[in-house]
Amino acid sequence: KIIPVIMAGGKGTRLWPLSRSSAPKQFIQVAGDRTLFQATLLRVADKSLYEAPVVITNQDFRFLVAEQARDIGVALSGILLEPVARNTAPAIAAACAYLVEGFGEDAVLQLLASDHEIDAGDLYLDAIRIARDTAISGKIVTFGIRPTEPATGYGYIEQGDILPTGARELRRFVEKPPLAKAEEMLAAGGFSWNSGIFMCRVGLLMNELRAFAPVVLEAAVAAVAKAHRDLDFVRLDPESFAASPDISIDYAVMEKTSNAAVVPAAFAWSDLGSWDAVWKLGAKDEAGNVVLGNATLVNAENSLIVSRAGHLAVQGVKDLAVIASEDAVYVGRLEDSQDVGKLVKRLAAEV
Ligand code: GDD
Ligand code: MG
Repeated sequence: KIIPVIMAGGKGTRLWPLSRSSAPKQFIQVAGDRTLFQATLLRVADKSLYEAPVVITNQDFRFLVAEQARDIGVALSGILLEPVARNTAPAIAAACAYLVEGFGEDAVLQLLASDHEIDAGDLYLDAIRIARDTAISGKIVTFGIRPTEPATGYGYIEQGDILPTGARELRRFVEKPPLAKAEEMLAAGGFSWNSGIFMCRVGLLMNELRAFAPVVLEAAVAAVAKAHRDLDFVRLDPESFAASPDISIDYAVMEKTSNAAVVPAAFAWSDLGSWDAVWKLGAKDEAGNVVLGNATLVNAENSLIVSRAGHLAVQGVKDLAVIASEDAVYVGRLEDSQDVGKLVKRLAAEV
């Protein structure tokens, strides 16, 4: 069976002010009645295919994780807690070090980002089965999403020849390219976006970490060896874990490994990472507006209007994001959505 490892320690700053440092986007209801984290758990709930999931997150989110899992009746097999945020490579390395103890090197892990909207129907399950066979055959498997624009917030995967399992070889992985490069790859064809879901044997992933990011792996192994366990929580040793560099799995391993494959993903997928993505995915009125919450619109066009507090009135707006949370408001052009994270950095310095 596949062991799901849910990555839920990100900050999601581009969805400010709904996503906050106390409750980042994976733990909030952006649209729909489940949080993105809960939706992720439900996607790996099939007991014939999956073991109970392990969640790796920041210690600040431990109660959010435990409560949100309990609310939907999902039993977790462990919650690994990072004392400091070091991005996904050390988080994944720690999950590997933890799981290899109980399950051995051949155990197949599915690493899942917890900040996506996915249609987990038959197309998704087909992709998962191909990925599992490919992971067992000795590859780190990615899921390739058909790109629709030269987005700069994703990893790009160049597909190679077809493998016996139906997956394709991964020729090249380019994490978050600059716009010109993204345009080039889109024009060249044969590229897909990295979905942020990976599948592989735990032993292979640890080998690749050992080869390309040895300091990350050492820190994670030590942090697990000296971890402090209380109830479901596994508190990674702070001193050991903090010794790891801050780096994502995409830069640390995926750009460097030559043992990867890609399963073309036909299922519906959205990163929901920024306000323009929420607008794109949302149900639109005749003027192209997406409205979440209570709002009155006059002469508004192609805008995203979100209110989580009181009634919001907008007039004469076009191509804007207007987001009112309980205690903060953001107004900006939808086309500037990728830069909200930078704004939040400034806010953190000034407020
Ligand atoms: N435990 C833990 N610790 N989880 C983390 C950490 C951390 O320090 N940082 C991020 N995460 C979690 C996030 O909560 C999210 O679920 C997932 O790991 C991915 O992190 P993001 O920060 O959202 O990455 P990204 O969106 O910029 O890029 C990744 O996803 C894209 C698709 O959405 C990359 O894998 C790209 O290549 C990919 O295209
Ligand atoms: Mg993301």
